Amino acid sequence: MLNSSIIRTTTFRLALIYLALFGLSVFLLLGFIYWSTAGISTGQTDDTIQAEITGLAEQYRENGLGGLVRIVSERARNQRQSLYLLIDPGGRPVAGNLTKWPKAATGAGGLLEFPYQRPVGGVIESHRARARHLGLGRGFQLLVGRDIQERLQVEQVMRTSLAWAVALTLGLGLLGGVLLSRNLLRRVETINRTSREIMDGALHRRLPVSGSGDELDRLAENLNEMLDQIERLVTGMRQVTDNIAHDLRSPLNRLRGRLEVTLMGAASEADYRAALEETIAESETLLETFNALLNIAQAEAGLPEDEQAEFDLSALVADMAELYGPAAEDKNQSLTGEVEPGISLRGNRHLVGQALANLMDNAVKYTPDGGAIALVLRRVGKAADLIVADSGPGIAEADRQKVLDRFQRLEASRNSPGTGLGLSLVRAVAGLHCAELTLEDNLPGLRVILRFPETAIP
Ligand SMILES: Nc1ncnc2c1ncn2[C@@H]1O[C@H](COP(=O)(O)OP(=O)(O)OP(=O)(O)O)[C@@H](O)[C@H]1O
Ligand SMILES: [Mg+2]
Repeated sequence: MLNSSIIRTTTFRLALIYLALFGLSVFLLLGFIYWSTAGISTGQTDDTIQAEITGLAEQYRENGLGGLVRIVSERARNQRQSLYLLIDPGGRPVAGNLTKWPKAATGAGGLLEFPYQRPVGGVIESHRARARHLGLGRGFQLLVGRDIQERLQVEQVMRTSLAWAVALTLGLGLLGGVLLSRNLLRRVETINRTSREIMDGALHRRLPVSGSGDELDRLAENLNEMLDQIERLVTGMRQVTDNIAHDLRSPLNRLRGRLEVTLMGAASEADYRAALEETIAESETLLETFNALLNIAQAEAGLPEDEQAEFDLSALVADMAELYGPAAEDKNQSLTGEVEPGISLRGNRHLVGQALANLMDNAVKYTPDGGAIALVLRRVGKAADLIVADSGPGIAEADRQKVLDRFQRLEASRNSPGTGLGLSLVRAVAGLHCAELTLEDNLPGLRVILRFPETAIP
């Protein structure tokens, strides 16, 4: 039952310290009770003896030896616990209920303690007695005492009880300590086992919570929350790497394929140059795609607190309207900006800017020459709406969800450049800022609404 791991627990050590202190106080308390009780009864015996001696001395003075002998003989007959012995100068007993003068030395205060034989129910028993001696002159001596056997027995019982009380206290305390530590140890052991399983890869496992709400439970709950967060991050990271690896594989394969084809044929220097130029152009697109994927992955995985801050959304939107002015002008499109000033947002400025640029880019790209584009930022209650609307072909209701996925482009846009990642970033950024993203019909054209919630607007 008592193995070394229990002894090493804090609970057990605390229990031991507590036990030692408690045992000591029990011992001191009972010891005090014992010594004072024993002391009092010894004192009482001594006082009684002293009083009797004084009385008998008086009798002797008044009535002489004869009177004393009479009284002593009478008392010796009646008193059961009192002991008397009167001896003559030759040491022979004259009166009393003791047969011979004890050999014990005189103790403190002229008191002596000695053993004597006493018949009890026909059997001779050895008892202890306490007595005081009185010289009467002319060689006569008187001894007056008390049988203290009973008192000694009571003291003996008290001593035994004292020892038992201390032993029981220690025993029970030790047992309690062991039980407490065992319980604690068992719970800690389950926590350890689960931690080991988690370290071995079972990332979904959680520490058991007993439901008692004690400190171990609180520790387990906190650790579980931490594990949840770690699992979320790890899964997020894994998804990001999986997605990037998957999404970049086909363009890289295409690139390599083209280079191989060029090498296989008998090509002129001009052909090589053309192939290299194409490769450079393609790797540039690849880099852009890579950046776009990274941005999306980042936004989807969630950003650390220090990459989020409060910024002036109104200014950002106004800048964007200005930036896309020339591009719209090139296509004879009218671009109207309607930006309510003073709206700020808590989030990542770079990503929101990138998402808005993607929406503007789509509007300009997919709206035919002479169309109209509107960029709006306004408060709606405590929320804020960011709207990009155009008068182009729009997106059919059935496709509005699909175009938000990575690399999804509509048949109608095959001829325009693009990778199909623009709206994916918009969706990821919306998610990052808890914003609601809606694509709707602008009659004609597409209207994209990003509604930032009250909580994101300081
Ligand atoms: N304003 C729009 N009007 C009509 N169709 C649109 C509009 N915006 C997006 N689309 C359709 O949704 C598809 C996905 O758009 P998204 O911005 O994700 O990719 P992309 O513009 O093709 O490429 P990228 O933005 O990565 O250069 C587009 O290919 C296009 O078919
Ligand atoms: Mg786009």
